[in-house]
Amino acid sequence: MPAVVIVGAQWGDEGKGKATDLLGSRVDYVVKFNGGNNAGHTVVIGDQKYALHLLPSGILSPGCVPVIGNGVVIDLSVLFEEIDALQARGIDTSKLQVSANAHVIADYNRSLDKVTERFLGSRKIGTTGRGIGPTYADKMNRLGIRVQDVFDEKILRQKVEGALELKNQILTKVYNRRAVDVDEIVDELLSYVDRLRPMVSDTPLLLHDALVAGKTVLLEAGQATLLDVDHGTYPFVTSSSATAGGACTGSGIPPTRIDRVIGIVKAYTTRVGEGPFPTELHDDAGEHLRKTGLEYGTTTGRPRRCGWFDAVIARYAARINGVTDFVLTKLDVLTGLEKVPVCVAYDVAGVRHDEMPLSQSDFHHAVPIYEELPGWTDDISAARTFEDLPKNAQAYVTAVEKMSGARISAIGVGPDRDHTVVVHDLL
Ligand code: GDP
Ligand code: IMO
Ligand code: MG
Repeated sequence: MPAVVIVGAQWGDEGKGKATDLLGSRVDYVVKFNGGNNAGHTVVIGDQKYALHLLPSGILSPGCVPVIGNGVVIDLSVLFEEIDALQARGIDTSKLQVSANAHVIADYNRSLDKVTERFLGSRKIGTTGRGIGPTYADKMNRLGIRVQDVFDEKILRQKVEGALELKNQILTKVYNRRAVDVDEIVDELLSYVDRLRPMVSDTPLLLHDALVAGKTVLLEAGQATLLDVDHGTYPFVTSSSATAGGACTGSGIPPTRIDRVIGIVKAYTTRVGEGPFPTELHDDAGEHLRKTGLEYGTTTGRPRRCGWFDAVIARYAARINGVTDFVLTKLDVLTGLEKVPVCVAYDVAGVRHDEMPLSQSDFHHAVPIYEELPGWTDDISAARTFEDLPKNAQAYVTAVEKMSGARISAIGVGPDRDHTVVVHDLL
């Protein structure tokens, strides 16, 4: 029985949360496998709107077991804040499972994230300031604190002492900050032990057993392909593996178990934070997309940078992730435009590139080559089948599908769960 991966195909905020929620009632497990509370997923169910950061979007589906996988970095204070807020709204969070091997974001890593960004000045990444990068750096440096460490005070103290030995030197001598006290960190982490203990399990084993028993597992990415630490626009990326390969390492589910990869792609493009973005619009058209698409960050509230659809990126995401199906989201936002430009390739110093340029410098200098497609004016939010869409909207979807390298199986026509045109079944 299937394990299905959902990934972002652009720079994040494509609508992964809505897509996960849409499938939530038909899957048994939803696993978050990378990132942490840098993610922000808005899910709209009827008149209720939920903003999720650390919890998998499957938490909103009553029959589904939400899992925080080993590849995630967990801010324990945010975990319990989010749980409490959902419980106060009547959402059952009791099934949540947390990997014993997931790393925790210690307070010093939040401080280091912010202070490093300030230090970088104009070279900053524009991070969410949640401590994500420093925590993954600790994981790779073998200085990280894992969920299981919190249950052994002696080990926890040793590890925090080990991490702070170097970090306090950096904080005080490089950044001119005060040193962090070991006890403060240890005490904060220990304060979560009682609430955390019942949720923690061997999640790779749990998921293995579930798949053997014929259950369906949905693996939900945070961030997106172009923010992936290996395949994204490095160094303007997040610090985790947000692509389909990361779904395996971040959950313990082997590649041979993955049956399907669903790429979520917006009908235009957005990006938050710094870094190259070839189709970015600095004019009224960009402002129009931002206003109509309500493109303001769920996590930091920052206005998202907006631009036209970029087929080079979509093709790249299809290839890197092995996308079997795309969900094209926010098509409704394009309604009312006379012409809709789509970037089909780049011009880099007079040379046409149909694929992502090899070097960062070339990507920085990529000038989009546009094809203009005719727009449509009829409201499409009530469309539920492909045939319900105006002819020009159908033609836009078909053109984008041809350029992107995988079939478009669903189309978003509004923020609500029901605002979806299903072309092919996603499960
Ligand atoms: P995620 O991080 O990929 O889960 O995406 P976000 O939740 O950060 O951003 C997507 C935003 O678009 C959310 O506010 C969604 O409610 C909204 N959204 C998702 N799909 C659609 C759609 O098809 N049409 C419209 N108008 N809004 C959508
Ligand atoms: P979802 O899951 C959009 C961006 C930040 C910054 C870079 C690194 O909602 O799609 P980090 O704090 O991760 O070290 O920041 O990555 N970023 C996102 N942009 N959506 C996200 O998540 C993001 N998570 C991180 O803006 O440019
Ligand atoms: Mg988001």
